[in-house]
Amino acid sequence: MRRIIILFIVALVWPFTVSATSADHPHFKADVDVTDKASLQRGARIFMNYCMGCHSAAYMRYNRMGQDLGIEDSILQSNLMFATEKSGDTMTIAMQPGDAEKFFGTAAPDLSVIARSRGADWLLTYFMTFYRDDSRPFGVNNLAFKDVAMPHVLWELQGIQKPVYRIVKKEDGTQREVIDHLELETPGKLDSEDYKNTVNDLVNFLVYVGEPAQIQRKKTGVVVILYLLVLLVIVYLLKKEYWKDIH
Ligand code: HEC
Repeated sequence: MRRIIILFIVALVWPFTVSATSADHPHFKADVDVTDKASLQRGARIFMNYCMGCHSAAYMRYNRMGQDLGIEDSILQSNLMFATEKSGDTMTIAMQPGDAEKFFGTAAPDLSVIARSRGADWLLTYFMTFYRDDSRPFGVNNLAFKDVAMPHVLWELQGIQKPVYRIVKKEDGTQREVIDHLELETPGKLDSEDYKNTVNDLVNFLVYVGEPAQIQRKKTGVVVILYLLVLLVIVYLLKKEYWKDIH
């Protein structure tokens, strides 16, 4: 029995230990709150302006998003959608996967469930850690996604970061340069705090897109638990009443 319990605990803790040691670059922690509509709205705007040139979110419908985020249809149509789209359409794009392969050498994946496969913290780290690398086709590389084929589309907001190296000695005595941290080389339109908040809104939006029903699900969950708690009290009192004469 004890062995089973130990195995169980190891199985629970194992994934955390692996992810905690898998990379030695800085990790950012996303502040996710899908009930914060203002944040989701700001994230949606960034997504539509900066990402939908290349990425779709084909499992998301515009009008569903409008309802969940409290954006009126008219505003959605005039500000956030392309002229030819209807509000019941899903968030697809004009670019074909074949085009992306021609331009970037690889397809730009659909982002409907990216927050579920990569996780919110990874996404935030990804958007925070683009840096200048002249050897890459778009002049940038990324600490979370080595040799990424995506340009740093938010560089105007963040500015351009450059890597600062440090020397590490390997076991065989040879030396090797590794990136110690990133430093802002050319400032962008936003200062670093505002940029981080902006990409956090974007990540929040991607988490919402990963499961639009979660806002409703969580609300329903609270009601159900409250209901069960009230029921518990009633049932407990009933039990006492029934057993009163027997004890
Ligand atoms: C100019 C086209 C383009 C734009 C605009 C663009 N991307 Fe990308 N993106 C790509 C390509 C191409 C890849 C594939 C990179 C690779 O596999 O090396 C990619 C990869 C990604 C990935 C990693 C996917 C994975 O494999 O896990 C994420 C996340 C992502 N993009 C998010 C975004 C977001 C959010 C925006 C808007 C802020 C955006 N992208 C804007 C082209 C683009």
